[in-house]
Amino acid sequence: MIKVALPKGRIGEKALEVFEGFLQEKLCFENRKLILQKNDFCFMLVRNQDVPVYIKRGAADIGVVGLDVLEEQQSPLVRLLDLGFGRCKVVLGSPNGYVLDFSKPNLKIATKMENITKTFFARKALSVEVIKLYGSIELAPLVGMADAIVDLVETGDTMRQNNLKVDEVIMEVSAYLVANPNSFYSQKIKILKIRDFFKNRIK
Ligand code: PRP
Repeated sequence: MIKVALPKGRIGEKALEVFEGFLQEKLCFENRKLILQKNDFCFMLVRNQDVPVYIKRGAADIGVVGLDVLEEQQSPLVRLLDLGFGRCKVVLGSPNGYVLDFSKPNLKIATKMENITKTFFARKALSVEVIKLYGSIELAPLVGMADAIVDLVETGDTMRQNNLKVDEVIMEVSAYLVANPNSFYSQKIKILKIRDFFKNRIK
């Protein structure tokens, strides 16, 4: 049995489509159910940020998750394949017309991604105050709570509509197929078969 953790939303749906091809079976989570069993597979639907938790603890053997989440959580998972979909960027952004002054003491940065933010500024040898938020990050500089944000940008619409600009791209992100290291060791042949199928699919 291979247990697969998929994130709710578009990335999970895309991944499930590939698994449909792999299993030659229609796959659909019914009526808000969070588990779907088919043949030798058990698919589970979880929050994007929780995918590494399920895999790390062995509740899932493999899964699909964004590189931003992997980097943020520093999860010790095997990165099997960059799937190339779910592309977006982690950026540093600030209000239009505002010149980000890195020499300002205690620059305040609002973000969901505390670790990525701290690492980014530590590499610049800058100490900043990180304000952890859970969503609507773009609001923080607009109401004077932060100087800048570190956030995900996909189309760029949210930043544009809120009069923010990109100051620096921190990381290019896409969805990854990942595995629990022990599962990868014990079910290597099966897991590599899945990886190769994904690889051919996304070429
Ligand atoms: C993400 C991200 C941005 C937005 C970017 O938020 O944090 O706010 O999407 O997308 P865009 O560049 O295509 O406009 P999400 O939709 O996950 O909501 P959240 O603010 O509640 O985290």
